[in-house]
Amino acid sequence: MSLNHTATVFSIGNISIAGKLILAPMDGYSDSPMRLVSKQFGSAISISEFINAIDIKQGHPHLLSQIKFSDDERPFAYQIFDDKPERMLAGALKLREHNPEYIDINMGCSAKNVSNRGAGAGLLKHPLKIGQIVESLVKHLDVPVTAKIRLGWDDDSLNYLETSRIIQESGASAITVHARTRKMEYSGSARWDAIGEIKAQLSIPVIGNGDVKSLADAERMMAQTGCDAVMIGRAAIGNPWVFSGSQREEQSQTELLRVVELHLHLMAEHYGEKIGVMLFRKHLTRYLHGYLNTPEIRKHIYSLEKEKEFFKAITKLVNQSHPTETS
Ligand SMILES: Cc1cc2nc3c(=O)[nH]c(=O)nc-3n(C[C@H](O)[C@H](O)[C@H](O)COP(=O)(O)O)c2cc1C
Repeated sequence: MSLNHTATVFSIGNISIAGKLILAPMDGYSDSPMRLVSKQFGSAISISEFINAIDIKQGHPHLLSQIKFSDDERPFAYQIFDDKPERMLAGALKLREHNPEYIDINMGCSAKNVSNRGAGAGLLKHPLKIGQIVESLVKHLDVPVTAKIRLGWDDDSLNYLETSRIIQESGASAITVHARTRKMEYSGSARWDAIGEIKAQLSIPVIGNGDVKSLADAERMMAQTGCDAVMIGRAAIGNPWVFSGSQREEQSQTELLRVVELHLHLMAEHYGEKIGVMLFRKHLTRYLHGYLNTPEIRKHIYSLEKEKEFFKAITKLVNQSHPTETS
């Protein structure tokens, strides 16, 4: 079964999706450069980091880099979060002006500063509000609307069957399920069975998410749950090869350096050289797992601000050393 190429297609509303592996939205990571690199390896949809509707209203300075995307990323979706239905709608209408293929609503963020104010996974405590929000976005937007949920706030309030049904009945075109509760944050194992239960009761596409680290895991999740596609988050950081069915550890040094150079360059283009190089460090740590072994090496590499000298130092390091398991 090929999950990562154009053979298998599903649809989100009227948008055809060519592929079944999707890069998960990840604040601080899945910006335009990471999405472009992931797309080259087969990620079927590009979804923005979550965007705060309050920031849209107030015109926060970092919005520009969050909103900017390239046509090469398409199909592209903005993800938005808030706790206030009217502000969410106003934000979504603004985002719509930039021509995404669809808009996704975050109902799963577990971060305390988001969920404790009733946004992200905080919405799961208020199924009626979920219905209101989805309905109003569906009514006022001329692009499909989707939602990304968790299983509930905690084990005493597992309401995923109710919330997913409300989301579908309110007109959403697809749903993504991170199969953990808000309380679990990122601990324990994702409960894939719940994805299967949701899939069994819905007719809209269900995208499964949680703990998928390889193509084999994705195939297992699809077989076990019947979900239409699979979203990969943490395992894709510094590892875009996962979307084409292999892993970073299997790559030659030449291929590793090719992708690092590409990603670094896209970062420098997107953010400007200085900030792009600085922000790339967290990706580099993952790309070079096993190479950045000593504090001296890290200090040296991370002191470099120019794209060319930064990449030169990386090339030298990779060519001189053999990766170890510790980094
Ligand atoms: C650093 C980080 C940032 C995240 N930011 C977002 C976000 O902006 N929107 C969202 O829906 N989920 C966000 N998530 C959750 C992921 O999309 C995904 O649901 C979660 O990581 C589980 O998938 P995984 O096991 O493949 O990592 C984030 C996760 C991480 C690790």
